[in-house]
Amino acid sequence: MKEPLISFKNITKTYDNDVNVLENLNFEIEEGKFYTLLGPSGCGKTTILKMVAGFLQPTSGEILFKGQKITDVPANQREINTVFQDYALFPNMNVFENIAFGLKIKKVPAKEIKQKVTKALKLVQLPGFEKRGISEMSGGQKQRVALARAIVNEPMVLLLDEPLSALDHKLRSDMQYDLRELQRNLGITFIFVTHDQEEALAMSDEIFILNDGKIVQSGSPVDIYDEPINHYVADFIGASNIVKATMLEDELVEFTGHQFECVDGGMRPNEAVEVVLRPEDLELTDVATGKLQVKVEAQLFLGVHYEIDCFDQEGNEWIVHSTKKSVPGQWIGLTFMPENIHVMRLNESEAEFDARLESYDE
Ligand SMILES: Nc1ncnc2c1ncn2[C@@H]1O[C@H](COP(=O)(O)OP(=O)(O)OP(=O)(O)O)[C@@H](O)[C@H]1O
Ligand SMILES: [Mg+2]
Repeated sequence: MKEPLISFKNITKTYDNDVNVLENLNFEIEEGKFYTLLGPSGCGKTTILKMVAGFLQPTSGEILFKGQKITDVPANQREINTVFQDYALFPNMNVFENIAFGLKIKKVPAKEIKQKVTKALKLVQLPGFEKRGISEMSGGQKQRVALARAIVNEPMVLLLDEPLSALDHKLRSDMQYDLRELQRNLGITFIFVTHDQEEALAMSDEIFILNDGKIVQSGSPVDIYDEPINHYVADFIGASNIVKATMLEDELVEFTGHQFECVDGGMRPNEAVEVVLRPEDLELTDVATGKLQVKVEAQLFLGVHYEIDCFDQEGNEWIVHSTKKSVPGQWIGLTFMPENIHVMRLNESEAEFDARLESYDE
């Protein structure tokens, strides 16, 4: 395997109050990929970024950059730049001066600074804004200036702490697209922080899902969406149909009082589990042919499909996405494929999950 660009080895971080914000954290970042740290407020995302950047020291453990320990290397000597959560531009400087600041400190010749700033402004789609005052820019434009200010230093790694949080929905989706393009064009490594799961799914090559200072699951957006390892991840990533179930034997699971064929295994016989069924994997049928019988409570038209809110006899809620219309108050059937049933053990860790899949596949 290629040597990772950044490695966190057994990193623990405690602030003054003796509580471990991060505990024994291990992960690797490969060069040239778009990574996202996804997790709720307070789970430790900014703390991780600050340690990568060199603004915070871990309490114990080592941080490696291209295989070399950089735990004690100060921030300004790392090939890493950060766009902070509050983007902290200099209000008394114009756009050009803000972007040029770092280069001036490094004593880059004026002509080169001008070329580099012009190029960075083009990349963030603000060409010609050099002389604008920061107070005369919109929130989205400021955010772009903050990005340009980081890119202009040509770092190997760009850290982005919720850089889109201040933007309205439309601008936010435009910027998501632009950032992704920018990362591909520059080919540098991005570590992006968000608590928005849709944003994480749309932008990343690799997602780390965090809870309470731990990585609960890591993988590509598709892996995580299709195979959430537990209730926390499934819920966080936006799954809506999660029900209690019993794994009778390999490839046979029982929920809502019925037995269903599935493709998972490696659990104990009759182990209590949970299953996820995605709204888009459920199909409407008549009551007789349905694998599940549900009563339609409400229906919303969402532009591309209907979102249908149903309940089964046991009171479980089932959200269905379908291009077919249904009638509130009526009983209907739902059907699905065995591979659409995602079985999750209660509180299984990522390592246990991987080990089980490996042993079950053999
Ligand atoms: N300087 C500090 N001193 C003490 N505790 C801190 C300090 N900075 C952060 N914390 C605590 O560490 C935990 C993680 O904080 P962190 O800022 O890393 O979270 P986050 O995931 O970035 O959250 P958010 O999404 O709200 O930005 C929180 O419980 C926070 O209260
Ligand atoms: Mg934060």
